[in-house]
Amino acid sequence: MNKELKIFGVVTFFTLFLYWGVEPFAHSQMHKHVESHGFTYDGTADIKEAEAKLAAAKESGNKVEKAEATAKAKKEFWANVVKISKLKGDPVAGEAGFAMCAGCHMDGAMNMGGVIPPSLNHAGSLYDKNYLIALIKNPAMAGNVDHKYKDTSMHPMGSVSSMITTDQDVANVVAYLKANKAGELTTKEAFTEACERCHAMRYAKTTQLGDTPKFKYKKDELKHQVKILEEQDLVKAYMGKLPPDLSIIIRARSEHFLETFVENPQSQLAGTSMPRVGLSHEGYEKVKEYLTEIGDPSKPAREAIGPWVILFFIIFTGLAFLWKKEKWNGHH
Ligand code: HEC
Ligand code: HEC
Repeated sequence: MNKELKIFGVVTFFTLFLYWGVEPFAHSQMHKHVESHGFTYDGTADIKEAEAKLAAAKESGNKVEKAEATAKAKKEFWANVVKISKLKGDPVAGEAGFAMCAGCHMDGAMNMGGVIPPSLNHAGSLYDKNYLIALIKNPAMAGNVDHKYKDTSMHPMGSVSSMITTDQDVANVVAYLKANKAGELTTKEAFTEACERCHAMRYAKTTQLGDTPKFKYKKDELKHQVKILEEQDLVKAYMGKLPPDLSIIIRARSEHFLETFVENPQSQLAGTSMPRVGLSHEGYEKVKEYLTEIGDPSKPAREAIGPWVILFFIIFTGLAFLWKKEKWNGHH
């Protein structure tokens, strides 16, 4: 009895040591820790990033001026966004401004500079308020992809700042979105509006062109496939590579990775062309739920069975112990 307890103690010790000591240490060495910022967008992360680059530039004496200008531009930009977010927007006055958005963001829109402008039907719940302000002021800065542009007004949505010019107008449009384009959205709608213009989901039969219809004739099916390939070529030219299919990304990446990646792709893949998507907490939860429904549909069943498996092991251990005791009875 005493001996068994000792063996059990040793096994338990090493198991826990591996689980809480070695594994987390190895993980921390292999992946840098990225702080999540709770789906708030005030530029803190972007400014920190720019300042780190500036420090590195100063050390190497290379491109110091450019790094200095970027850090300064980021600080000014986000300070302005925070200032606008404090203005009281008038949703009624914002409707006229929104008409300009709808010129590009309409149902059945065509590819524009690389992607199809997404539907804004739920933009009020899907995106964070500060992020929407930033996006209208300067979409390349908002998405933290300004490094891709010599002049950020070259972004496919860059012309917006010349249509909606005053800070009050920006606040009004955002107030309009928050008042009229919010409300319950399904998990699929969240994915469609936030990610689908770039990412296909093979398991859900969706592509950058939306749901793939069922075709009666092979000829029509092939025609549609050609259209998908043409659309993907445009996205590829815009992004530098075709964004990956997200069918099973929920199983390939940790939850923390996904959350921090969507909040700020640069934090995990420095230099990547994927923009920040600017989701609100609610928007992110919906997208994550959709990725789980499609990529890991058996998750609820698996989780439900977990406690039963553990209960089985506990009962089984008790029985095994009693059986052993019975067999060895009188042999010592
Ligand atoms: C000139 C056409 C055009 C106009 C006008 C325009 N947009 Fe866009 N918008 C785009 C394109 C193109 C994209 C996709 C850009 C990308 O994914 O890189 C986009 C993306 C977006 C996104 C998704 C951003 C993200 O990071 O997920 C939102 C939200 C949005 N626009 C809101 C607006 C609002 C609000 C207005 C009006 C104030 C507006 N847009 C006006 C073309 C336009
Ligand atoms: C404007 C285009 C665009 C949009 C919109 C977009 N992505 Fe991406 N995404 C990309 C590109 C490009 C890559 C490839 C990045 C690379 O390898 O540099 C990528 C890569 C990814 C990856 C893989 C990261 C890895 O580990 O390699 C994930 C996960 C991802 N995107 C999730 C999302 C989610 C979730 C959304 C919607 C909330 C979204 N993306 C919206 C362009 C986009």
